[in-house]
Amino acid sequence: VSVSETPQGWNAISPTAHYTGYVWAKNGLSHPALTTRTGRAFFETMRPSMAVSKVVVGTNIEGFLLARHLLIDLLLEERITSGQVEQVLEIACGMSPRGWRFASRYGDQIEYVEADLPAMAKRKREALAEIGSLSDHHRVEDIDALAESGQASLAGIAAGLDSERGLAVVTEGLIHYLDPDSLSGLWRRIATTLTDFRDGVYFSDLHLEDEAGGVRAEAFRVALSAFVRGWVHPHFSSEDEARAALVAAGFGEATLHRPLDYADRLDEMDERGASMVRVIEAPSAGAG
Ligand SMILES: C[S@@+](CC[C@H](N)C(=O)[O-])C[C@H]1O[C@@H](n2cnc3c(N)ncnc32)[C@H](O)[C@@H]1O
Repeated sequence: VSVSETPQGWNAISPTAHYTGYVWAKNGLSHPALTTRTGRAFFETMRPSMAVSKVVVGTNIEGFLLARHLLIDLLLEERITSGQVEQVLEIACGMSPRGWRFASRYGDQIEYVEADLPAMAKRKREALAEIGSLSDHHRVEDIDALAESGQASLAGIAAGLDSERGLAVVTEGLIHYLDPDSLSGLWRRIATTLTDFRDGVYFSDLHLEDEAGGVRAEAFRVALSAFVRGWVHPHFSSEDEARAALVAAGFGEATLHRPLDYADRLDEMDERGASMVRVIEAPSAGAG
């Protein structure tokens, strides 16, 4: 997948954000202003194959989307309530409702910065303005997660944050669209940036190659590739390999959480879908 941006500030991955945006809303996690007609159209187009997948494979894309989303929420909440995190930078935010929900819940206790490629960021900003959520504590920035430097790079946005306060960086639904070099570059930049902050932690979803094996793994690849003109990258075949890559990128350590281990604390979970995803929690080197 080429992740380079078009002059309109768009890329091949962006349409997927419409789909997930609709999934969050359909499951009661979002606000109507954060859904789009495109998202609904994608959802309706995919509905028959999702129904087949549910029968043949025992789950479908919604199963792991919800598991990953709710577990990232839970882990982020823990860091905020413990006081370690007072700032959140969500890269590739798409139409995700997390920023809106967290900004509403925590008010001036946190600063929530959402970021995406310019066209998606604009759409998100407009939706949040309609909801009335934008404030000194909640904003949307243009970013190219692959940029090494400049105002719309991670470093450029981090320069506008307070290094005396803890920072969580979140990527959800991004890393499997990146080729291996782009991913290691992104992780290196995130790890490096976090070391500048009093506390730092990175959260992301992660799928392991062949985790589910056979038909389920294949269904997963097809589902994730559905909207992009290309293929997705599972990146790692084991937890150890993924942890080693995170440490090599400069994180202090990395835990790969399994949503099923949190089943008692998360809303009703599609167990098969949940078993296909991990959530990375990687504190910065030197942070706890
Ligand atoms: C699958 S969507 C996920 C959106 C949201 N995180 C969610 O889970 O609903 C992928 C997002 O990655 C964004 N994206 C793709 N390439 C990017 C890049 N180089 N920098 C920043 N965002 C990017 C797309 O615009 C899109 O919003």
